[in-house]
Amino acid sequence: MQEKFNQIRQSAIESLASVTSMREIGELRAKYVGKSGEVTSLLRSMKDIPNDQKASFGKMVNDLKDEIMGYFNVKEAELKQKELESQFEKEALDITLPGKKVVAGNLHPLNIVKNEIINAFTGMGFEIFEGPEIETDYYCFQALNIPKDHPARDMQDTFYINDDIVLRSQTSTGQVRVMENKKPPIKILSPGRVYRSDDDASHSPMFHQCEGLVVDKGISLCDLQGLLDEFVKIIFDKQTKTRLRPSYFPFTEPSVEVDVTCSKCHGKGCSLCKGTGWIEILGAGVVNKKVLENCGIDSNVYSGLAFGLGIERVTMIKYGITDIRTLFENNVKFLKQFDRR
Ligand code: PHE
Repeated sequence: MQEKFNQIRQSAIESLASVTSMREIGELRAKYVGKSGEVTSLLRSMKDIPNDQKASFGKMVNDLKDEIMGYFNVKEAELKQKELESQFEKEALDITLPGKKVVAGNLHPLNIVKNEIINAFTGMGFEIFEGPEIETDYYCFQALNIPKDHPARDMQDTFYINDDIVLRSQTSTGQVRVMENKKPPIKILSPGRVYRSDDDASHSPMFHQCEGLVVDKGISLCDLQGLLDEFVKIIFDKQTKTRLRPSYFPFTEPSVEVDVTCSKCHGKGCSLCKGTGWIEILGAGVVNKKVLENCGIDSNVYSGLAFGLGIERVTMIKYGITDIRTLFENNVKFLKQFDRR
């Protein structure tokens, strides 16, 4: 009998040694310790065992069963570990391999400059207002003291949709829309697209402006100059100076055109500033009393300043761009030069 025990033990150990999968282990488990397995069937010979030895025989069978199950458990744990290791190996990442480069775009130079302008003015307490690009003749002209047939309409070659509807030719429309709805103090910046029938190296039928408007008690041309002096130092550099020249706009009185010292030669004279040392960047002035009154603001109590700045112009000066059309051609090689990452 002892021999039989040894044989079963030996054959279980040997078969287990060559097992390579969990499925095989399952089969062997059934073969040895399953319901009709070899160890279990030893119990069937119980009837031939003398009564006084039955108990010790039963214990031997159970001990053998426990022993063999122990072998199975050890083997099973080993296999599980191996399977896990091979899975890890298969899924392993080589973190030393170069990564795939994600191609990302960058901001358009006009957006870079627009954001800089917005940051400069919001930093000085301005709020942003965006008005519609399709406007009525009233907001684009009449409320701004440009009645129908006024010669000043020729200053801007407007696209008319019909007699009364236009593509706005200036963001000054925003002045009226804000003043109609808001009581002073007012401090707004209105960026957006404008349209004029004009097309050459320095004009585009669609371009961008940024309108500024401040209305409060006691606002004067001095405030305008101080504000713009601060602005050009932020947007260009600390050495930049401004100069006001008298001009004419129907909606400001007095009106000025504002020049900055050339960003390339700093005033000495070069090709960018055509030898003058100065470059014009915007039109501005003290808000015409008639415009305040048109918008329901008492011009005896309040006064205002307004300016309208071309975003393309500032961008071209900042980056030394000589043809406005390069800003709209969407040539990736050109645009990539503004990638700051
Ligand atoms: N709207 C004017 C233009 O487009 C610029 C401007 C704005 C002038 C505000 C004075 C005040 O030319």
